Amino acid sequence: MKTVDREDLAVRVVQDGVCFVPGDEVCAIVGEDIRPTHDYERFALEWDSLPLDPHLEPTERHRCRRYGKVKAVRSGDGWELHRLDDGPFVQADENRTFLAGYNGGRPREFAPATDGLYGPPLASIVQFDLGILSLALMPIASATVGFHFVRILAASGDGANPVSEGRHSDGHDYIGMHLIARRDCHGATSAVYDGSSGEPTLKVEFRTPLDTLIVDDRRMEHDVSRLVSTGAAGYRDVVLIDYDQLEFSRSTVAAG
Ligand SMILES: [Fe+2]
Repeated sequence: MKTVDREDLAVRVVQDGVCFVPGDEVCAIVGEDIRPTHDYERFALEWDSLPLDPHLEPTERHRCRRYGKVKAVRSGDGWELHRLDDGPFVQADENRTFLAGYNGGRPREFAPATDGLYGPPLASIVQFDLGILSLALMPIASATVGFHFVRILAASGDGANPVSEGRHSDGHDYIGMHLIARRDCHGATSAVYDGSSGEPTLKVEFRTPLDTLIVDDRRMEHDVSRLVSTGAAGYRDVVLIDYDQLEFSRSTVAAG
């Protein structure tokens, strides 16, 4: 595995408002390539049973989704995830230009996350994100964390828009975007913008499981281009993570 400079990733979050981390480097930082494990295989299989997002228009039935929320609390070198009431999910709309009139401020209830989704791979992903944010900010003691488990379906010979509302910010403090799996599709390039500036700060297409973006959502906006099938019906599975109500500790940042 490659040696990764976590401090450099944290500096990018502070200076650029975003960092991209390839899946191999995420695993190097976590200390184990979790992707070939049975835990990860079981975790990824959970996306096969995500129900359709009930808040899409009848003509856009291409997104499946579950939602869950936890309080993440630092415990030694790791994190404990304490499950909270799952819903409803509310996306803020204050000062969110591109969300105005869409879903901003309107409570939406989603199917709850299953026990299988709260397995060890999810804890490793949270540990990775909070480790980088602890270096970028101050050592984090706890955070409120929301999980959107999402599959975008690209019908055979066709495609789908992963983000119906277009360019936007989500109304959270920080967000993590992580690829879990993709099959028979291309596209879905993520673009991250500094506020309302015209050119993206960063553009990347997630190709490898655990490819990751960490974004300062207070400052940046993001969008994802159309997902296109390469022949057979394809899909792209991600977990999108919201980080809010960060509480900091005075201790030094632990490994991971
Ligand atoms: Fe978003």
